[in-house]
Amino acid sequence: MKALIHQKQKGLEGLHLSEMEELTPQAGEVRVKLKTAGLNHRDLFVLQRHQPEDPPLVIGSDGAGIVDAVGENVTSVQVGDEVIINPGTGWRNTSDAPPKGFEILGLPFHGTFAEKIVIPEENALPKPSHLTWEEAGVLSLAALTAYRVLFTRAKIKENQKVLIPGIGSGVATFLLQFAKAAGAEVYVTSRSKEKGDAALKLGAVKAIDSNENWNDQLENQKMDLVIESVGAATFNQSLDQLRTGGTIVAFGASAGDEVKLDLRKFFYGQFNFLGSTMGSGEEYREMLQFIEEHNIKPIVDKVYELSQYKDAFDRMENASQFGKIGFKIV
Ligand SMILES: NC(=O)c1ccc[n+]([C@@H]2O[C@H](COP(=O)([O-])OP(=O)(O)OC[C@H]3O[C@@H](n4cnc5c(N)ncnc54)[C@H](OP(=O)(O)O)[C@@H]3O)[C@@H](O)[C@H]2O)c1
Repeated sequence: MKALIHQKQKGLEGLHLSEMEELTPQAGEVRVKLKTAGLNHRDLFVLQRHQPEDPPLVIGSDGAGIVDAVGENVTSVQVGDEVIINPGTGWRNTSDAPPKGFEILGLPFHGTFAEKIVIPEENALPKPSHLTWEEAGVLSLAALTAYRVLFTRAKIKENQKVLIPGIGSGVATFLLQFAKAAGAEVYVTSRSKEKGDAALKLGAVKAIDSNENWNDQLENQKMDLVIESVGAATFNQSLDQLRTGGTIVAFGASAGDEVKLDLRKFFYGQFNFLGSTMGSGEEYREMLQFIEEHNIKPIVDKVYELSQYKDAFDRMENASQFGKIGFKIV
């Protein structure tokens, strides 16, 4: 089968569309013939984290397809089922933090940028019927992350004012859609006017320019909740928009991991600072139910053939996308 395999060299230079042997599902596992897959910022980081001396790796975390083989003792899934893949393994029930042994498909295990993948049966869930294959293929990692951030960690409430910096990101578009569905008033930032306008169409109350003064543009309105994933480039501006006693959640750092924090301002502000990452199998099922109930569909930015992977990675690297970048496999 064809697969995007990373080996021998760090970065994009080590990535090639090559042939590899098809895997056979073992007890409790199923094999999925992928129709579509989705790109995440994580896939860029994986190209740096997967070392030249490590065994070859099929990258990619998101995907959807049709089950074409099942191992022994598989009870919940049958050959022919249309499924969507939860990329998180080893985190079944919702807890304060992932348990030891939690992993994500696409490092350390083979991922979804291939014609087929073998996964534990519990990671193959019925594809939501309101989604196209392209929408299902790009949903999982980003939507699960957004769901846990808003509902489990921040405990978002109706009518809260929520700020989402860097609305171009895949997770940010889900945050906007989910927060709107929860009845919140959503404000966004972007460096791009087109992306800001697209967010307004999705129901944001206001879109501001990330490169201009945020206080001025928001007319000093303060937020109940700020969801940060841009990192060093925006963190302190984000914190400045929080009302006293408000909550800021961080789950990513696309533009730098380290920030300088004015502690005095922080404790006088009585701020809450939460971290979040991905989500459990239980949260994944809740998220699927939530998007079905609210008829939420991922914003698909652009879909590529697997052979066009360099263009897809470039688009993500340059943050040109609004929403999710996908791959069509079959
Ligand atoms: N912890 C987890 O489980 C988890 C899961 C998923 C993602 N993440 C993290 O969340 C982040 C978002 O991921 P993603 O794949 O959805 O999107 P992404 O491609 O990393 O997009 C990030 C967005 O941040 C904004 N941005 C980037 N650099 C900026 C800068 N210098 N100044 C201002 N804004 C900047 C851009 O928004 P505009 O173009 O609108 O300006 C960009 O579209 C990543 O850091 C990713 O690793 C974490």
